[in-house]
Amino acid sequence: MAFPESFLQELTERNEITEVVSSYVKLTKKSGSNLFGLCPFHSEKTPSFSVASDKQIYHCFGCGKGGTVINFIMEIENLSYPDAVRFLARRVGMAVPEDEKDGNHSRREKMLQINRDAARFFYEQLSALNGEIARQYIKKREIAPAMVTRFGLGFAPDSWDSLAEAMLKKGYTKQELLDAGLARASKKGGGIYDTFRNRLMFPVIDIRGSVVGFSGRMLGDGEPKYMNSPETVVFNKSHNLFAMNLAKKSKMGYIILSEGNIDVVALHQAGFDCAVASLGTSLTPEQARLISRYVKEVVIAYDGDTAGQKASQRAISILQKLDIKVRVLRLSGAKDPDEYIKKFGAAAFENLLARSENHIEYRFSDIASKYGLNTEESRVAFLKEVTGLVAGLPNAVEREVYSRKAADMAKVSADAVLSEVERVRKKLLGQAKRKQESENSSPLRSRQPRARNMHYENIKSATAEKGILRLLYYEPTLFSDAVELAEEDFSVPLFGKMYREFKELTKYGSQPSLAPLAESFTNDEISILTEVLNGPLELSQSEKALNDYINIIKTEKLARQQISSAEENKLLDISNKLRESKSYRG
Ligand code: CTP
Ligand code: MN
Repeated sequence: MAFPESFLQELTERNEITEVVSSYVKLTKKSGSNLFGLCPFHSEKTPSFSVASDKQIYHCFGCGKGGTVINFIMEIENLSYPDAVRFLARRVGMAVPEDEKDGNHSRREKMLQINRDAARFFYEQLSALNGEIARQYIKKREIAPAMVTRFGLGFAPDSWDSLAEAMLKKGYTKQELLDAGLARASKKGGGIYDTFRNRLMFPVIDIRGSVVGFSGRMLGDGEPKYMNSPETVVFNKSHNLFAMNLAKKSKMGYIILSEGNIDVVALHQAGFDCAVASLGTSLTPEQARLISRYVKEVVIAYDGDTAGQKASQRAISILQKLDIKVRVLRLSGAKDPDEYIKKFGAAAFENLLARSENHIEYRFSDIASKYGLNTEESRVAFLKEVTGLVAGLPNAVEREVYSRKAADMAKVSADAVLSEVERVRKKLLGQAKRKQESENSSPLRSRQPRARNMHYENIKSATAEKGILRLLYYEPTLFSDAVELAEEDFSVPLFGKMYREFKELTKYGSQPSLAPLAESFTNDEISILTEVLNGPLELSQSEKALNDYINIIKTEKLARQQISSAEENKLLDISNKLRESKSYRG
């Protein structure tokens, strides 16, 4: 389906690249005709994404992605080439030659259209005669009319086919209704019926403003309380966040993550326009990445029950991996943000936000409330648990700060907690060392290199190092400047050196390859490296693999350092003892 050259030329001329990119990325003037911004394709803190208006291309110096305005739309909208062309044509009101001919709109476009029309239908039903029941419910939940409009809330009538009928009348087919998840096939007779019936409808709108699916809440009690659109070509609930289309425009500088759609509406109504909710799942990595495109801080405002607390823990660990600062809000006297605001007001919620704790403090208070801290035993139990937590923190300053805090809470001296934390830390590192030693022995022998003059001191780290090299070779775009791994972290110097050389190549946009390395490595080394690159590859979960490898390499490095300093201490100890015994005898 080649598009005519003249058509493509007009299309790219009319879709000026800086203009198109600007609606996704905040660009600021830098040098010459180049504009810079934060790359939308990988997470970064300093802008390395550039758009050259004279050449009409973009390029990210961090992740290496680049191309024309069409590539940009393919990448950011996750569209195929022809769909990206159609997207840009629609943007400037151009007719696509091929589409004109056979009226063949892309499947994706069609799905977005039918969802948009369905949202309009539901919205209209809200003011229809038999929408009274939904209007009553909205009133009862104290949702203001302005919020109904802002969120495009609607009503799916209590009928088997009112949506289907309206959509068929508009020219959509039964199959399209089924594909969009708006209707289901009847068991017999080849008929269809509406998926959403007698429900308050929340359209799920993506960050470009397209309706991609729906959440429908029962008007009252009953099961299932919520129903979501099934997965379709345009909808995947683990990739979308409810209200992200609104929150991305917020000036608050952070995102409030809550559990419920109703919570989000209540929060926006109270002025917290940065609230979003995941759609009935706990936060997914994809949703976290979406958030990380806009903000670097998230306040978790989940329900106060155990399920909410568990979900908070999971969300914390996902968000931290993306370098997002996490705070946790503690609701007391209400089960969720909606109820809290209704009971105590927006100002009280504001107050709560100001007092929200970072995640370690949050764990501390959790543990404190578990034990109570009223008796000596409870304080001992509290200290025992928090020292374990603090001992696991890799950063010494953090260990000190939180040791002091724990001491404060348990009313004991900070020194006592500090030394206990360091003792537990030594123990943890010792355990890590023993584990490494046992892994280094027997069955893992086979993971030793075949080259005879080479021996991996630390097999676990070496295995991860090989994995990193393979990822860098096959998926260089994963390696932005945000990847904090240096040559010195490697346990095998050869691998470290290769890592540095590979990274150097990717920096200038080249694909890493062995050819240019021939100069800096011996033939034997090149053979070892070739063998490494031919090893097993984890491309399906490459991002996770990358994080895992880095973690292993860093932990192992720490353990090696700790082991060598422990050995020094032991020697010191022995010589001291010797001296003591000598002087004793003397
Ligand atoms: N959810 C779902 N399916 C269910 C229950 C919940 O998809 N059977 C999702 C919905 O997106 C819902 C969220 O999980 O918004 C949180 O559930 P809940 O707290 O029960 O919903 P609220 O929107 O807070 O509703 P309400 O306050 O009316 O109970
Ligand atoms: Mn709720």
